[in-house]
Amino acid sequence: GSRHLYLFQHFWCPSTHFQGVINFQNHFKAKDSDVIVASFPKSGTTWLKALTFSIVNRKRFSCSDNHPLLTSNSHELVPFLDFIFHGDNIQHKLSYLSNITEPRVFGTHIQFPSLSNSIKESNCKILYICRNPFDAFVSSWTFFNKTKSGSLHELTIEEALEKYCKGIVGFGPTWEHMLGYWKESIATPNKVLFLKYEELKEDANFYVRRVAEFLDCPFTEEEESNGVIESIRNLCSFEKMKILEVNKSGTFDRNIEKKYLFRKGEIGDWVNYFSPAMTEKLSKAIEEKLGYKEILINPIIYVVSV
Ligand code: A3P
Repeated sequence: GSRHLYLFQHFWCPSTHFQGVINFQNHFKAKDSDVIVASFPKSGTTWLKALTFSIVNRKRFSCSDNHPLLTSNSHELVPFLDFIFHGDNIQHKLSYLSNITEPRVFGTHIQFPSLSNSIKESNCKILYICRNPFDAFVSSWTFFNKTKSGSLHELTIEEALEKYCKGIVGFGPTWEHMLGYWKESIATPNKVLFLKYEELKEDANFYVRRVAEFLDCPFTEEEESNGVIESIRNLCSFEKMKILEVNKSGTFDRNIEKKYLFRKGEIGDWVNYFSPAMTEKLSKAIEEKLGYKEILINPIIYVVSV
């Protein structure tokens, strides 16, 4: 069905997520060992969830034929916090949460300022994945076009871009989303690790190692020489994930078909969708919203030549 966006605590919350977000804020108690995978939608959430789950659970599950990622989707193994809290029976949710094996790994698209205090006050860690807005926009455009449940539904691509640039998209504005986590990663580098989809694509092994160090579970020399990093990277690779039966069939709760989580997994596919006018529009928005902020200093910014 169609959904609306509510402007709530300075972000646009999809109506379908609203109850879950409120319940999460009021009831979630973070544990120090928790890991939160945070992202703006269509930025590589599914991938980072899979990597994180396999990194922190590598003693429980070796990357063999029995790994849970081969039989369960990473959104099932790493549930979204607001999704867990969707619905009324809070006690039931809390007991489910307290029974998850530690370290628990969760996903969220909620902006940093709206995370629960318990997340901010505990020693839990946050991994943030950021993606070039050009590719993230095309990814959501194609995704919500297929699922017919998103905020971009029934718009032309130009109209959708207009809204995207204005920030009126689920969990947007995208700029505030990035900046919120970015600032936090600078202020408290042991708490928030800011990752970029493009860098992960370039050198996944490096970032698998980096994430493990950040989560205080670095790879031992023995693991290094046994190729554990490489096997985690392979297990979570786009090519491997896309063809798994568990990712090809079935739907998630909100009727989103699992197979649409794996489209191309490339950098720069936006050129196949953007007219020169659209390119100028998004470039301008990026410069205006991020260009003069500290986000530029450590060049996260995705320079585009028109
Ligand atoms: P494309 O639509 O450009 O292909 P999210 O998981 O946040 O919804 O992001 C979805 C995007 O991540 C999609 O981008 C999807 O193909 C890509 N993706 C999913 N799994 C991936 C993986 N294992 N490696 C690289 N990219 C992946």
